[in-house]
Amino acid sequence: MRFVRRRLLVSLSAMVPFLACSVLLAQTLTYSRKPDAKNGKTIYEGGCIACHGANGKGAPQASTAFKRPDTFPDFSRCDQTTPEPNSAWKAVIVYGGPYYGFSTIMPSFKDLLSNDQIDDVVAYLRTFCPNPHWPRGELNLPRALVTEKAFPEDEFVISTAVNASGAPGLETHFIHEQAFGSKGQLEVDVPWDYQDQNHNWNSHVGDITFAWKQVMYSNLHTGSIFALQGGILPPTGSQKLGGNGTTVFEPFASFDQLFRSNTWVQFQMGADLPRHPDITPQSLFWYTTLGQTLAPDHRLGRQWSPMVEFLATRDLQDGAKTNWDVMPEMQVTVSPRQHIRADIGVRTPFTNTAGRTPQVYFYILWDWAEGHFWNGW
Ligand code: HEC
Repeated sequence: MRFVRRRLLVSLSAMVPFLACSVLLAQTLTYSRKPDAKNGKTIYEGGCIACHGANGKGAPQASTAFKRPDTFPDFSRCDQTTPEPNSAWKAVIVYGGPYYGFSTIMPSFKDLLSNDQIDDVVAYLRTFCPNPHWPRGELNLPRALVTEKAFPEDEFVISTAVNASGAPGLETHFIHEQAFGSKGQLEVDVPWDYQDQNHNWNSHVGDITFAWKQVMYSNLHTGSIFALQGGILPPTGSQKLGGNGTTVFEPFASFDQLFRSNTWVQFQMGADLPRHPDITPQSLFWYTTLGQTLAPDHRLGRQWSPMVEFLATRDLQDGAKTNWDVMPEMQVTVSPRQHIRADIGVRTPFTNTAGRTPQVYFYILWDWAEGHFWNGW
C-alpha cells in the first residue's frame, strides 16, 4: 500500500508543471472588462445588420446581394450557436470568413473594430438565443483518450490502442456521438480488434456500446458541467477474443471543471455490470484527467492541450487489486476551423502490472456539426 501511495505521489507531482503553466497563460471565461452587450448592439446595427438582419436570422434575401452559403448562421438558433465558444466567433469576426474556411462574404473587422468592441458585439450576438439552459461550447473541454467528458457532442472519432510490447494487437473504436436537444446525447461505439494469433492476423468486431448521456447541470460562470450516462453493451464480440460474453450495463457520471487559466480537470466514475457476473466479473472504474489548453492569440490560433490521465479499474471480487494506469498525452487542433483534432498518448500500467503492457493510444476526431471533414482548412 505504501508503495502504491508513493507512486500516486509521483504521478501527482507530474501535475505541477500543468498548474504552473496555467498561472502564466491567458483565459477564456473572464475578460479584463465585462463585455457591454448594449454597445455591441450599436456596433451590430452599424456593421452587421445589413447582412445578418435585425433578428440575427439573416437580412431579407431581397436586400442582400450575396448568395447565402449553407453555413450562413442563424444567431437565434440555440442548437447552432451555443456549442460555439466565443473564441470561434471572434476568430471569424477578426480575420473574416476564409480564416475558418467560410465564405469571403464575411469580412474581416480587425482594422475596423477594437478587441473590446468585438467582445461587445459577440456579447450582443449571444442575446439572440433566448434559452440560457443550453450548455455553452466553452465547457466542451478537449476530449481525452479514455476519460469521457460531460459535454454532449456532435463528433465522429476513430480511436486506436496499439500494444507497445508483448503480443502484437490493436483495437480501434469507431465512435459516433450526436447531441439531441439541449442536454441529451446518443453514442454508438463499434470496436474492431486485430490480433496476431500465431502469426495469423485475425480481425473481428467487439462488443458494441449504445449509450445515452444527459447533462444534469452546467454553469458557464463557474466553468462546471455534470452529466450522467447509461450504456448497454450486447455481447456482439466473441468471448474467445476478449468480448464480455454477456450483456453489460455501464452507468457512469462525468464532472468537468474549467478554471480561468484554461486549466481543466475531468472526472469520470462508473461501473461495468454484466448480466451474468459469473461469465465476466463486475468492475468499477474511476478516471481523472488534468490538462491545460495552450491558446495563442487569445484562442484564435491552433490549440495544443497537454494532459495526463490517471486511470483506475477494479474488479468487484474478493482479493482483486486495483489497476492504476497513467497516460500523458497531447491533443492538437489540426484544421484552422478546429473541427478536426488529433490526440496521442502512451498508457503505462503503474500497479498490478503482471500481464499488462504499455499501449500507444491515438485518435482523430471530427466535429461534424462544424462542417464537412475537408472544409475549414
Ligand atoms: C457583407 C455581409 C456581412 C457583414 C457586413 C457581416 N457578415 Fe458575418 N457573415 C456573413 C456571411 C455570408 C457569413 C457566413 C459565412 C459562411 O458560412 O461561409 C457570416 C458569418 C459570420 C459568423 C460566423 C458564424 C458561425 O457559424 O461560425 C459570425 C460570428 C459573424 N458572421 C459575425 C458578424 C459580425 C459580428 C458582423 C459585424 C461586425 C458581421 N458578421 C458582418 C456576412 C456578413
